[in-house]
Amino acid sequence: MCGILGCAGVDDAASILYEGLERLEYRGYDSAGLAVANGNTLALERVAGRVHQLNIRSLPPATYGIAHTRWATHGPPTKANAHPHQPCDASVAIAHNGIIENHAELRNALETSGHTFTSDTDTEVVAHLLEDTYDGDIVASLDTVKEQLEGTYALLAIHAEEPGVVAATRYRSPLVLGLAEQGNFVASDVVAFRAYTDQVIFLEDGDVARVTRDSYDVTPATPRTIEPQRVDWKLEEATKAGFPHFMLKEIHEQPRSIEEALVGRTNLGTFDIESNDLTLPDLACFDDAVFIACGSSYNAALAASRLFQTHANIATRVELASEYEPLEATAERTLVIAVTQSGETADTLDALRKAQNSGATTLSVTNVVGSTATRQADAWVPIRAGPEISVAATKSFTGQLNVLHLLALHLGHLRRGSSQPKIHEEMEALRHVPTLLRSLLDDTTHLDQIGRWLADHERCFVLGKGQGHAVALESALKIKEISYIHAEGLAAGELKHGPLALIEDGTPVLALAPGGTLMDSMRSSMEEVAARGAHVIALTDTREAFQDSGFETVHAPGEEPSTFPYTATVMGQVIAYYAAIERGTNVDKPRNLAKSVTVE
Ligand code: M6R
Repeated sequence: MCGILGCAGVDDAASILYEGLERLEYRGYDSAGLAVANGNTLALERVAGRVHQLNIRSLPPATYGIAHTRWATHGPPTKANAHPHQPCDASVAIAHNGIIENHAELRNALETSGHTFTSDTDTEVVAHLLEDTYDGDIVASLDTVKEQLEGTYALLAIHAEEPGVVAATRYRSPLVLGLAEQGNFVASDVVAFRAYTDQVIFLEDGDVARVTRDSYDVTPATPRTIEPQRVDWKLEEATKAGFPHFMLKEIHEQPRSIEEALVGRTNLGTFDIESNDLTLPDLACFDDAVFIACGSSYNAALAASRLFQTHANIATRVELASEYEPLEATAERTLVIAVTQSGETADTLDALRKAQNSGATTLSVTNVVGSTATRQADAWVPIRAGPEISVAATKSFTGQLNVLHLLALHLGHLRRGSSQPKIHEEMEALRHVPTLLRSLLDDTTHLDQIGRWLADHERCFVLGKGQGHAVALESALKIKEISYIHAEGLAAGELKHGPLALIEDGTPVLALAPGGTLMDSMRSSMEEVAARGAHVIALTDTREAFQDSGFETVHAPGEEPSTFPYTATVMGQVIAYYAAIERGTNVDKPRNLAKSVTVE
């Protein structure tokens, strides 16, 4: 996820773009840049780092330009990879949010025809394509070039020979025009220009727009009336995009972040591994995988490890990074997978080093491109969740699970051949996860009530089975870290081996009870605790099973067992959030915790 902004006809383009970038920084903050035009030359200022490191005084006075704040997905966050990007003749500058899926083949073709690339990004191909197609009208060029692009994009372009014109188009990535007296704007988010106007036009997929000082000219992809509308919120409300907390915003971003994670990865056999020498088929040669991670990332790895066993027939171990000791005897045939949102967790990096010293091959799965974990491991895969500000992991957890799930299916496909119906079915089911999460998040009233009810209790239990066990651990972690209620996640079958002694009248028990093969034994465990007085709440994706059970029940959308871990996770997050709200804790910054734990 990145933030992009363009403006036309303003008094001081560099300052206005800079100010807009600061407001967009929540969308990405590993590098930033802007391009403004003065006469017939484009001037760029880019930096690997935060927006405040940009030196806009180095730029000439200008009335139009484009800007970008980046959350890297292809290529580390270096100055060369920061946007805007330019082609060989520097005639164009472009800013992009999204992922150009077919960038490798486009790049090959462009290099063959003599273009020289200066970055590792997927985006740069667009600049060179614009250079090739330009015929006096940057908007027409962008319209032509977009037909060659596969993937997702919001694109802004300016051309040195067309003063005052910003060209824009989008596909599955947001873009909105802002119409102000001081000039016109186009950005990935209204917040970028809300200080100047409340009049906006949301672009649709395939629309192309020409933005100038006095006009905005939108060519709609499908016929419709283009009319400005008014946004009814004030700038002060917008730092969290209108949500009261980053955590709630990030919970609601999950349909989108999972969509991003799926781009380019749902066709079996096609899954990008970032590495100089390792490929997906190389990874498929390992018979053993050891996951190393901490906290939520550990829970994601635990859930994923079963998928590696089931689909890829790979033997797995999941280790808390702080407890990890490599087995040197098996190191050569072991793939060690470090799962870490930040890519900077000291315990995980230390375990990664130990794995490498033992001779194992290593892969990092992370949200932060350019982090130590991406540089240290032999290969890495980004989860593309966008910046996560709240200390509690939410969209990074579902992103990790999703990417590991996809990887397990791809490895299974390579190791076991294409005639595995289960792998195809599961891939199909994954495509529906964003829609299911959207529908779940449409109405969270019941989950809100449960969270507030839970707030009156000092302890609770979350039960799960199979992958649900890992989700139960994650839900309990969410509840304890932000509401300070003592929550314990349990494998349901373990109850009778000890924890049942803690159940008494009114003890809250959340039971993750998907339909399918696990239902009967989950139900027995629920009866067991109910018989001892527990207040059992079933979180389930099947309506029938609990109709006359007497258990309080929340239904999640979806019928495939493989989608339940995602919907169940989100239900747990929402319950934890409202329990914390009711208790009045500091949701985004819980006591004693930090987002990135860089000490052992
Ligand atoms: O950045 P990492 O994923 O390596 O962080 C590991 C844990 O510190 C982290 O997952 C932590 O448990 C969560 N923030 C809790 O919500």
